[in-house]
Amino acid sequence: MTAPPPSELRTERLVLRRWRDEDREPFAAMNADPRVMEFFPSTLTRDQSDGLIERLERSFDDDKLGLWAVEAEGRFVGFTGLLWQHPPLPFAPAVEVGWRLATEAWGHGYASEAAAASLDDGFTRVGLSDVVSMTAVANLRSRRVMERLGMRQDPAEDFDHPSLAPGHPLERHVLYRLAADAWRSRAS
Ligand SMILES: CC(C)(COP(=O)(O)OP(=O)(O)OC[C@H]1O[C@@H](n2cnc3c(N)ncnc32)[C@H](O)[C@@H]1OP(=O)(O)O)[C@@H](O)C(=O)NCCC(=O)NCCS
Repeated sequence: MTAPPPSELRTERLVLRRWRDEDREPFAAMNADPRVMEFFPSTLTRDQSDGLIERLERSFDDDKLGLWAVEAEGRFVGFTGLLWQHPPLPFAPAVEVGWRLATEAWGHGYASEAAAASLDDGFTRVGLSDVVSMTAVANLRSRRVMERLGMRQDPAEDFDHPSLAPGHPLERHVLYRLAADAWRSRAS
């Protein structure tokens, strides 16, 4: 039986914690920023952003893992963590590690630091054997985070995202994988 998620994870510079009402405003501002949402089909409205918080928070209870609200220097800067991905995504079912930070928080190594903490939690407490990460081919910043974490891409697993219309500029996606054994041997 998987132990319930802790109320927070701490790293040298960050707190990964459950969501609070006060996150709604900065999260909505971030989701309305076209730079942050460049590799998603659209920015989010306030209602969509609030609804996303509800879903993210629910997955901690339902799945015993989730995308954490991330704080740096006492301020909400975005999310990082784990989520289940489901068919028709071709690699699913699988647990994905993901991240989305406000632009002011880019370039500090926060996404990589937060992802490392959530991967540790996923490979130990949850007992995952493999974690994936996907993004649009052109999202080089996100791909660099995957590579920094030691994730590996197999071009044979590239795929067209099933939620995007054929021919959409973001349709082609890459998939990166990380096995628990590789993570442990890297961390030791
Ligand atoms: C993807 C995203 C999280 C990457 O953010 P990021 O800040 O570039 O990633 P990291 O936290 O790993 O930081 C690495 C950068 O910080 C720099 N850095 C500064 N101090 C650092 C430190 N102490 N440790 C590590 N890196 C540090 C690195 O040099 C690197 O910059 P570079 O890539 O220009 O060389 C961010 O661009 C984002 O939120 N994008 C929008 C949402 C999105 O696309 N999400 C992914 C969808 S799949």
